[in-house]
Amino acid sequence: MSNTLSIETAQSTDWKKILKKRFGDFVALTFPHRTRDLFANPVSQPTGVRDRAIMAHLKSRAIALDQQEFFEKLHADFWSGEGGAVFAQNCDHRFEDVFLAKQKVDFEALKKVWSAMQARHIVEFGCCSGLVLDYLTRNLPVVDSAVGIELNAAQVRMNQASDRFDSRVKFEHADGAQWLLGKGQPKSLFVSNGGVLEYFRRERLDQMMQHISINLPGSLVFSVEPVAADHDWARNKGSVPFGDELSFSHNYRDLFESNGFRVAHERRFEFDTWQMVAIIATVRA
Ligand SMILES: C[S@@+](CC[C@H](N)C(=O)[O-])C[C@H]1O[C@@H](n2cnc3c(N)ncnc32)[C@H](O)[C@@H]1O
Repeated sequence: MSNTLSIETAQSTDWKKILKKRFGDFVALTFPHRTRDLFANPVSQPTGVRDRAIMAHLKSRAIALDQQEFFEKLHADFWSGEGGAVFAQNCDHRFEDVFLAKQKVDFEALKKVWSAMQARHIVEFGCCSGLVLDYLTRNLPVVDSAVGIELNAAQVRMNQASDRFDSRVKFEHADGAQWLLGKGQPKSLFVSNGGVLEYFRRERLDQMMQHISINLPGSLVFSVEPVAADHDWARNKGSVPFGDELSFSHNYRDLFESNGFRVAHERRFEFDTWQMVAIIATVRA
């Protein structure tokens, strides 16, 4: 049986989950002020029985009511804190084991589209320790500038202090959407690799993609994102929390096409418990 992460994983109702939910509902009713606080400012690693129970209640309610902003805040809390700061230590091996080993064909396709479009700048959202950004900068022809945008301030400080990067590579601590709307420039390649857009709600992704397609001519997007194994894009254009992390399985083809892009490359592959989709989408002329 495949153990690839799914929407069903997130919504499964075994008896343990039912008990947890009932207890969470009870605690939330008992502490309405704390419940309102945690809804407005969700914490990804709650401490204490009360907060853990309330967060379980809020998560299951947010799934039922499609409260995407709640999940976006929850993910931002995780990535800007300790979870984000130690991610590279545990997951940098994915550069060799996934990007170099499994995504060669995507990189070759990217090289062709990049050259055809004569883009000049690279922007990577959620660049973490910068390995992919550095690789792209050194291996795509004629790159004028490269910037990694990262929500985790500690990771950005480490990158800025390191001398291992190509001199064109810079890093900024910012939210990807805010940076794009304020500082994005035409003829740019926008990258999200290894799961980054999965932490943005669909409304903000629409805003980002519209901005690129309307205001930044000559640009392209290279996104490599996980999707739920049971998310049927032909039937469901929605964005659904999936897996244990409750990040979003987006319909990326619809995201790009409905915001004025042309999908030039689309390929699925698996690693560990994830089904990944690599897409190259270009702004229509
Ligand atoms: C699953 S990790 C992937 C990291 C890296 N791209 C890789 O493939 O190893 C997600 C990364 O996105 C960053 N991130 C999450 N939300 C973000 C946001 N709103 N703006 C910028 N970066 C964000 C996280 O801090 C984290 O470094």
